Amino acid sequence: MSEREPRADGVARILIDEEVIRLRTAELARELDAEYGDDIPLLVGVLNGAIAFMTDLMRAMQIPLEVDFMAVSSYGAATQSSGVVRILKDLNEDIEGRRVIVVEDIVDSGLTLQYLLDVLERRNPKDLRVVALLKKEKPDAVDVHVDLVGFTIPDEFVIGYGLDYAGKYRNLPYVAVLDPKVYAGE
Ligand code: IMP
Repeated sequence: MSEREPRADGVARILIDEEVIRLRTAELARELDAEYGDDIPLLVGVLNGAIAFMTDLMRAMQIPLEVDFMAVSSYGAATQSSGVVRILKDLNEDIEGRRVIVVEDIVDSGLTLQYLLDVLERRNPKDLRVVALLKKEKPDAVDVHVDLVGFTIPDEFVIGYGLDYAGKYRNLPYVAVLDPKVYAGE
């Protein structure tokens, strides 16, 4: 894992390496397997950020499950949430009476998740839980419930393992802190 790879240009430091992500994902998968037992949950991946986590998590789970995706507006090329969330792609599945697990990459201000849960709750799922790979330590975040968190991280802008800055860095296999020089003057 070399930081000299072209894709790693802009990485300040690696925060969570591939192996640590893999082990934690396996733990989360075991918890979900135990929780859902005979039911068939619908995993809802939130595009684009959750792509890596979603595909690894679902393959680590051993119970039967189904998947669907939603896409919501991201920050664009900014590192701060605007608080305005738009649905860019809705679910294909009807979730009424289903057991739904929202799979998120990161909870920062919590605004995106709060909005999503509000939208999904109104569709009357049997239950609705959230698993997020990352949650930032942010005292002023909105109080939104996350059932399972992979890692709590400091309030820094991170990239990799699905997470982007201005569309790039999603293909880094680890979670890293973005070099502030990349967005200086934003
Ligand atoms: P929130 O609404 O502030 O909680 O932000 C949620 C969304 O913003 C996430 O699903 C990510 O797509 C994006 N986001 C938040 N923090 C970061 C970060 O540090 N790096 C990359 N994307 C982020």
